Amino acid sequence: MISPRASLFVLSVLGSGVFSTKTTTFTQPAAAPTDTSTFYVGASNGSLPKTTTVPGLVFDRFVQIWLENTDYSDAAAQPAFQNLSKDGITLSGYYALTHPSEPNYIASAGGSFWGLASDDDVTIPANVSTVVDLLEAKGISWAEYEENMPTDGYLGDSFTNPDGYTYYMRKHSPLVSYDSVNQNSTRLARLRNFNDFAYDVGNNTLPQWFFVTPNMKDDGHDTGVAYASDWLNYWLVPLLQDPNFNSARTLILLTFDENSNYGINNEVYSILLGGAVPTNLKGTIDDTYYTHYSSLSTVQNNWGLDNLGQQDCNKTLANVFQFVADMTGYQNNGMKNGTGLPLTNITGTIPGPLNPTYPAPWPAPNTSCVGAGGGGYIGSK
Ligand SMILES: *[C@@H]1O[C@H](CO)[C@@H](O)[C@H](O)[C@H]1NC(C)=O
Ligand SMILES: *[C@@H]1O[C@H](CO)[C@@H](O)[C@H](O)[C@H]1NC(C)=O
Ligand SMILES: *[C@@H]1O[C@H](CO)[C@@H](O)[C@H](O)[C@H]1NC(C)=O
Ligand SMILES: *[C@@H]1O[C@H](CO)[C@@H](O)[C@H](O)[C@H]1NC(C)=O
Ligand SMILES: *[C@@H]1O[C@H](CO)[C@@H](O)[C@H](O)[C@H]1NC(C)=O
Ligand SMILES: *[C@@H]1O[C@H](CO)[C@@H](O)[C@H](O)[C@H]1NC(C)=O
Ligand SMILES: *[C@@H]1O[C@H](CO)[C@@H](O)[C@H](O)[C@H]1NC(C)=O
Ligand SMILES: *[C@@H]1O[C@H](CO)[C@@H](O)[C@H](O)[C@H]1NC(C)=O
Ligand SMILES: *[C@@H]1O[C@H](CO)[C@@H](O)[C@H](O)[C@H]1NC(C)=O
Repeated sequence: MISPRASLFVLSVLGSGVFSTKTTTFTQPAAAPTDTSTFYVGASNGSLPKTTTVPGLVFDRFVQIWLENTDYSDAAAQPAFQNLSKDGITLSGYYALTHPSEPNYIASAGGSFWGLASDDDVTIPANVSTVVDLLEAKGISWAEYEENMPTDGYLGDSFTNPDGYTYYMRKHSPLVSYDSVNQNSTRLARLRNFNDFAYDVGNNTLPQWFFVTPNMKDDGHDTGVAYASDWLNYWLVPLLQDPNFNSARTLILLTFDENSNYGINNEVYSILLGGAVPTNLKGTIDDTYYTHYSSLSTVQNNWGLDNLGQQDCNKTLANVFQFVADMTGYQNNGMKNGTGLPLTNITGTIPGPLNPTYPAPWPAPNTSCVGAGGGGYIGSK
């Protein structure tokens, strides 16, 4: 229940925010992405502890940066993306899994979107494993960096800055919905804000696996892809030159959660960047069929991890990024972009425990599947 006084207060804050802060021009929160900013609200909790690097076969760090709701052709038309594509491998066969946003984020962490077809606050039982279990089993450090999340491990649905604008939304955080993370304070503390990012990059303590969620403006959600391009030029472009962020052993996936036009298949513009991309492949295009499950299979392949026994094990949907597969000797399925690929622009038609229209039990993991890491189901140990 919200008291009438409280709701009046909310209304007046929202009202003032709408007129005073909604701009379509990107404004830098600080001089550089390595600086802290009061705009990020929460003071940093200190940098992460230094940990031993666990070497992978092809890379020692995997970074994902997810932008929002853009058709492939709209991103490809942006000069900032054309610029970045010269330094990396453009993936012209990469698809999101469904609509709307949240199920895509959830799937990238747990190997399924569990039938979800909404952006509602959901929770997933503690015995359902995620990429965190796979990484921790090998001692690989991890974190999420959520721009404008006020405090580490924040569990609210959203956060409105003092300027009245709601920059942070829970629906764009891949791990927060999993009880194995949100009920464990040690893990929850690894859902960090951008002031922590500044300390971690400054102190060279960024983890080996991390996920970056820009705020609702910077990811293009409320603003469009041109605005997101300006943010990339502020945030990512200089960090590519920062050895604490991007070394010769860093692989970066820049992608979008989903496309915008539900009437066409769900292809999203994606680029592999970072020092781990072989020089002779910079500026090339790879049309192998990938989905958001490919980020799970690729890290499994690189570090010899176990699997989740979910769609990360589905050989149709989880090709390993081809240059990685070529270096490890892993066999992909040979599917390329073109007609006849699974239509992942469907929404709400997949049964699952988070689908109220077509409910189904929590799917038991496939305990006999051998994943791209060569290991078995994590829970079999
Ligand atoms: C390193 O982290 C400490 C706290 O953990 C912080 O005081 C300091 O400013 C950080 N250094 C840099 C360069 O970010
Ligand atoms: C593209 O890169 C060049 C050289 O780094 C830079 O001068 C230019 O501003 C960039 N353009 C865009 C639109 O990002
Ligand atoms: C989690 O526990 C429930 C209830 O005990 C069980 O039905 C389900 O199969 C378990 N899931 C996994 C992934 O082990
Ligand atoms: C620091 O981390 C703890 C959890 O470890 C959290 O309760 C607290 O809110 C955090 N503070 C900030 C400013 O993030
Ligand atoms: C909580 O997380 C820590 C470290 O991430 C892990 O070692 C521990 O086993 C987890 N506890 C439970 C009950 O899952
Ligand atoms: C999904 O995309 C296909 C191929 O472009 C199109 O034929 C179909 O109508 C779309 N489905 C929906 C639900 O819009
Ligand atoms: C693997 O994915 C394909 C394409 O979406 C689907 O048809 C198939 O049922 C999936 N297999 C399993 C075991 O879930
Ligand atoms: C991928 O294939 C589809 C279907 O043939 C096509 O519409 C789309 O333009 C292709 N994507 C790219 C980036 O070429
Ligand atoms: C489990 O994985 C194995 C090995 O990939 C496969 O043969 C089997 O069909 C899968 N079972 C189910 C129920 O998907």
